[in-house]
Amino acid sequence: MRAVVCKALNGIEGLAVEEMAEPPLTAGSVRIAVEAAGLNFADTLIVTGKYQQKPPLPFVPGFEVAGRVIDCGDGVGHCAPGDPVMALIDRGGFAEQVVARADDVFVLPAGIDAVTAAGFPVAYGTSHFGLKVKAALQPGETLLVHGAAGGVGLTAVECGKRLGATVIATASGPDKQAVAAAAGADHTLDARDPDLKDKVKALTEGRGVDVVYDPVGGALFEASLRCTRSGGRILIIGFASGEVPQIPANILMVKNISAIGYYYGPYRELAPAAWRASMQELVDWLGQGLLRPHVSQTYPLAEAVAALRALKERRSTGKVVLTV
Ligand SMILES: NC(=O)c1ccc[n+]([C@@H]2O[C@H](COP(=O)([O-])OP(=O)(O)OC[C@H]3O[C@@H](n4cnc5c(N)ncnc54)[C@H](OP(=O)(O)O)[C@@H]3O)[C@@H](O)[C@H]2O)c1
Repeated sequence: MRAVVCKALNGIEGLAVEEMAEPPLTAGSVRIAVEAAGLNFADTLIVTGKYQQKPPLPFVPGFEVAGRVIDCGDGVGHCAPGDPVMALIDRGGFAEQVVARADDVFVLPAGIDAVTAAGFPVAYGTSHFGLKVKAALQPGETLLVHGAAGGVGLTAVECGKRLGATVIATASGPDKQAVAAAAGADHTLDARDPDLKDKVKALTEGRGVDVVYDPVGGALFEASLRCTRSGGRILIIGFASGEVPQIPANILMVKNISAIGYYYGPYRELAPAAWRASMQELVDWLGQGLLRPHVSQTYPLAEAVAALRALKERRSTGKVVLTV
């Protein structure tokens, strides 16, 4: 099969499409003919050795795919050859075939195409589980979402609205703010506005927001600390800015703020029932037309480097997807 291979940790420019052996099918797993693969910011990090997972070289990046089931290992009951599916995987998605754990494979609702589905599991899964389970977002609360036109941020806007929150979204510039507004954000602010924290406070009548969803870090995290209400929660998603914030513990103490560290992937093992229930609710919402996944760009597999460059250079909104 053809796959995008990382042979050295020298970044996305070092990736190359090569022929390689198909992964073996094992009990409890599913072989999928990949039709599309979703890109994530983490793909740009894992190929430099700066991601929390450091697979041995060579490896194939790619955390999520959609396609058709080719065959199933022993003990797999919920999907069959020919079914259209999407799947989460530890790596290997930028390839013509993947083998995924059956628990991480979801049959697609009718009418959902592979490009839409390929970019679905990581972003929606992270936001839904994070907001509903980790931050316990309640109807009527106010949610501040940073990076709100990006992959995870845009799904946090949608999930926040579906969970009954008022959503304030930040993104860089009017075009990206418009994308967040189209996904349902009640208010949008420019992430580069020096008066951001005051504007967030003004939108909450001086009180501050109940919950912050922060995939960006750096200066936006600093601003968040100052516009979260007493007793509020900050969900730490990631550091797309490249700056890992250092948290002054006195502010957390004085304002009774909970800073919640959150890494979605391990919840497949930490809380498998809650993890699967979250993803099933998302699949149901998708099938009912309650979500509007936004894919801004697609590239063929052979152009994976250009696709990752677009993501890294902030030229995408929502998801970027490779077609295979
Ligand atoms: N904790 C978890 O389980 C989990 C799961 C998925 C992703 N993440 C993390 O969440 C972050 C976002 O991932 P993603 O896939 O949504 O990425 P993405 O689509 O590239 O979105 C990132 C957003 O961050 C903003 N940003 C601000 N400064 C940036 C910079 N210097 N470079 C790039 N973007 C910058 C951009 O918005 P503006 O241009 O509007 O400022 C961009 O839309 C990453 O750090 C990723 O590792 C964490």
